[in-house]
Amino acid sequence: MYQDLVTFIRERYNEPHKFITLHEAKFIGNELKYMEECIATGMVSSVGKFVDRFEDEIKKYTGAKYAVATVNGTSALHMALLLAGVGKNDLVITQALTFVATCNAISYTGATPVFVDVSLNNLGMDYLSLENYLKKNVVLKNGLSTHIITGQKIAACVPMHSYGHPAEIIKIVELCTAYGIPVIEDAAESLGSTYHGQHTGTFGKLGIYSFNGNKTITSGGGGMIVTNDEELAVLGKHLTTQAKSGHRWEFNHDQVGYNYRLPNINAALGCAQLENIEVIIAKQRELNKIYQQFFNQHNIAFVNEPSEARSNCWMNAFYVDNKIERDKCLTFLNDHGIMARPAWTMLNKLAMYNTCHCENLQNSQMVEDTLITIPSTVVL
Ligand SMILES: Cc1ncc(COP(=O)(O)O)c(C=O)c1O
Repeated sequence: MYQDLVTFIRERYNEPHKFITLHEAKFIGNELKYMEECIATGMVSSVGKFVDRFEDEIKKYTGAKYAVATVNGTSALHMALLLAGVGKNDLVITQALTFVATCNAISYTGATPVFVDVSLNNLGMDYLSLENYLKKNVVLKNGLSTHIITGQKIAACVPMHSYGHPAEIIKIVELCTAYGIPVIEDAAESLGSTYHGQHTGTFGKLGIYSFNGNKTITSGGGGMIVTNDEELAVLGKHLTTQAKSGHRWEFNHDQVGYNYRLPNINAALGCAQLENIEVIIAKQRELNKIYQQFFNQHNIAFVNEPSEARSNCWMNAFYVDNKIERDKCLTFLNDHGIMARPAWTMLNKLAMYNTCHCENLQNSQMVEDTLITIPSTVVL
């Protein structure tokens, strides 16, 4: 079967010899034009019209009321956590199986992550695992949730929409709301995915997207915070731009700010990419269906879009039987010039996070042992 898969992918990309990577950017619109405009006007850095425009276009596209552009998705997450009030010694619930940036951003605030399991239906945070954790470990008093034993505040919950597939975000938000816990959606991988018709990233108190080069659309590097809360959006813009207070020439800064502003030239690239996002998503979804057929024909489990959602189908993945088979398959595919990777290493196993509290993580372990991601760049 592995040789069949190599042949299938090579034919699909019409690439008999080249190493085929997992996800490459496609430039099919106004990218050069907008970037040339930045260079011609000298507006390549912190000043220029494209940052505002990119924020406006993201608002229009996702339906969020406010958007704040940042240098990358990790800084967007860090800022979103700070805006939600996360601080030193707090606990923040996230899933064990996510990219390390989710967890690192929690650490930057001085808080400690807590790991719950992922759902096998969508690979995002498992609602039941979250509920179990809260029921067993958390006491709610005067609208504030704290850990029964340590007394630490449960300051936020960060579900992630894995590989673009929406998690059960309505149930997660409802549950967290009942416990007085703000939800920050890590929608880094799921721009354009919807759950019951609403864009991922717009369900929680705050949400974030990434425009890294491997995502559905890219700004070279970049991120975005979205929220419906005006006060948080204004504060977010202020803090991400060195907390400078409004004077034409004085260096007045009213608190410790961050240099998290997205440069204009990156925003220009992002604006051009966003103009074609639906074309790219249609092609990602088409590729997902083509892979689905291939794996169905070979009787191999494939990661499908959850039934109640529209996924942007950013990354395709399938399952093998066990870890030994996974490593055999990864070796074969990479040796034959097809990039393939496992799921992330569970974050509770990394040295920095191996003392964090964990729920039962059996689904995460199964996915870590058996999932393989395969080339998902669209053919245009
Ligand atoms: C789930 C997740 N969270 C956060 C990030 C961080 O985004 P960035 O690379 O733009 O900092 C990424 C991707 O890179 C991601 O996949």
